[in-house]
Amino acid sequence: MHTQAQTDTSDVSVKDTGKNTRKVFVKTYGCQMNVYDSERMADALASDGYRVTDNPEEADLLLLNTCHIREKAAEKVYSELGRIRQLKESRTANGGDLMVGVAGCVAQAEGQEIIRRAPVVDLVIGPQTYHRLPEALARVRGGEKVVETEYAIEDKFEHLPEPEKKVIASRGVTAFLTVQEGCDKFCTFCVVPYTRGSEVSRPVEQIVREAENLVSAGVREITLLGQNVNAWHGEGSDGREWGLGALLRRLSEIDGLARLRYTTSHPRDMDEALIEAHRDLAKLMPYLHLPVQAGSDSVLKAMNRRHTADDYLRLVDRIRAARPDIALSGDFIVGFPGESDADFEATLQLVDKVRYAQAFSFKYSPRPGTPGADLGEQVPEDVKSQRLERLQALLRKHQSEFAESCVGRQIDLLLEKPGRLPGQLIGRSPWLQPVIVDANPSQIGEIIPVRITQAGTNSLFAEKVQGESGSSTI
Ligand code: SAH
Ligand code: SF4
Ligand code: F3S
Repeated sequence: MHTQAQTDTSDVSVKDTGKNTRKVFVKTYGCQMNVYDSERMADALASDGYRVTDNPEEADLLLLNTCHIREKAAEKVYSELGRIRQLKESRTANGGDLMVGVAGCVAQAEGQEIIRRAPVVDLVIGPQTYHRLPEALARVRGGEKVVETEYAIEDKFEHLPEPEKKVIASRGVTAFLTVQEGCDKFCTFCVVPYTRGSEVSRPVEQIVREAENLVSAGVREITLLGQNVNAWHGEGSDGREWGLGALLRRLSEIDGLARLRYTTSHPRDMDEALIEAHRDLAKLMPYLHLPVQAGSDSVLKAMNRRHTADDYLRLVDRIRAARPDIALSGDFIVGFPGESDADFEATLQLVDKVRYAQAFSFKYSPRPGTPGADLGEQVPEDVKSQRLERLQALLRKHQSEFAESCVGRQIDLLLEKPGRLPGQLIGRSPWLQPVIVDANPSQIGEIIPVRITQAGTNSLFAEKVQGESGSSTI
C-alpha cells in the first residue's frame, strides 16, 4: 500500500525561465511537513535571487529535503547523492559548478556524518534553521563545508519570508500550513522527537496572517500541519493559551477559505473542544488521520503510546457521535519487538471495529538512537512481511468498501487541477478521495456539486449535477 506521507517524493514547482537568476532544484522526501518546508526554503532562497527549477541539469543548487523515519527512507538519500556526484563531476569537468545541500530529518539526525559518507555535499541544514539558508550558502560560496544543525533560539517562522502571491497561486488551491513542530511523546519506535526537537506551537496571530495571505492568493483549502498537530497550544489573540479547536474556529472565520483539515493527531490530545469543532464547523472536513499503530495493549505500552486499544475505540465512538459522517484514517506498524501472533490478531480486530477509510501501514524499522532498536525479541523479517500483507489486505477491503459506499451520493467537490485526459479535472471529496470529473480548467478552485458514478482503485469518478454547492449532502 502506498503511503500518503512517507514514500512519495515530489519536486517543488514554482518555475521561472529567466536567464540570469540562480536556480535551485528541490527534491522532497517524507511527510507533508517536508513538502511545506521545501516551499518555505524556496521562499527563503527567492530573496537570495534563486528561482525553482524542475530540471536538476540546469540547477546551480540541488537541495534534498530528507526523511529519516524508516531505514529505507534514509538510504534513498545516499543513493541519490551517488547520482548527484556524477552530475557534479561532469559539471566541474566543463568548468561549471554545482552546490549540493542536504536538509530535513536525515540532516538533523546525521549531521557531519553525511559529508563524511558523501563528500559531494556542501551543506547540511536541519529543519530548525531554514531561515539561515541564504547565509549558510554564502559561507559555502566562500569555500566552507557547512553543517547547521543547532536548534536556533530565534523563531524560525518570524524570519522566513512570505511567498509572493503569484508564487502561492502557482502552488495550487490547497496549501499546507505548519502550526506546530516537534514532538514530546517519545514513542519508542520513532525518530521524530530527535529530528524535529521538542514541541513548539506558533501563535494564533502568526498563523492567521499566513492563512489570510494564502487565501488572498486564491487558496481554498488549508491543511494545518504538526507532528502532533492536536497538541498545538499557542498564544491566542486574547493573550491566553488556545487549543486546536479554538484555532480552527478562528480560521473558519476567514472569508474565502472553504475547507480546513489538520494532520497528524495523537489520540491522547483529542480534547472535547476539538471534537466539538468537528460537530460545529462546516468548513472543517469530515476526515481525521488518527494513528493507533497497534491493537494490542502490551504492544501499545511497549511503544509508549500511553493509551489502550479500548481508550482508542471509545475515543472513535465520541468523535463519530459528534460527526457521524467522519472518515478515519490511520497508521500501523507491524512487527514491533515482542509482537506475538496474538498481539497481531488484536490489531486486525481493532481494524475490523474501526473500519478505516484510508490507512498507511509499515513493517517496524529499528531506528538508531530510539529505545525500540535496543529491545530484544526483534520480529523476523518474514513474519513482518506476512503480517503486513494480511493487515493491508484487510485495510484495502475496508477502503474499497468505503469508496463503493460513496457511489450514487452527491457531494461537494473542490476542483484542484487538470486530470490525465483532456476535459477532465481532479478534485478532492470531503473525505480526501481524488475525484475525476469532466469540467473546464477555468473552474479550478471552485467547489461544485457532483454525483459519484464509479469507484476506481485509487480514485472516484463523478458527474456534475445542477445546483449550488452546499446544497448537497455534505
Ligand atoms: N506524528 C505521527 C507520526 C509521524 S511518523 C503520529 O504520532 O502518529 C508517520 C508514521 O510512520 C507513524 O505513524 C508510524 O506508523 C510510522 N513509523 C514511525 N516510525 C517507524 C518505524 N521506526 N518503523 C516503521 N514505521 C514507523
Ligand atoms: Fe513519533 Fe510518537 Fe511523536 Fe508521532 S507522537 S511523532 S509517532 S514520537
Ligand atoms: Fe520523515 Fe522527518 Fe517527516 S523523519 S516523516 S520527514 S518529520
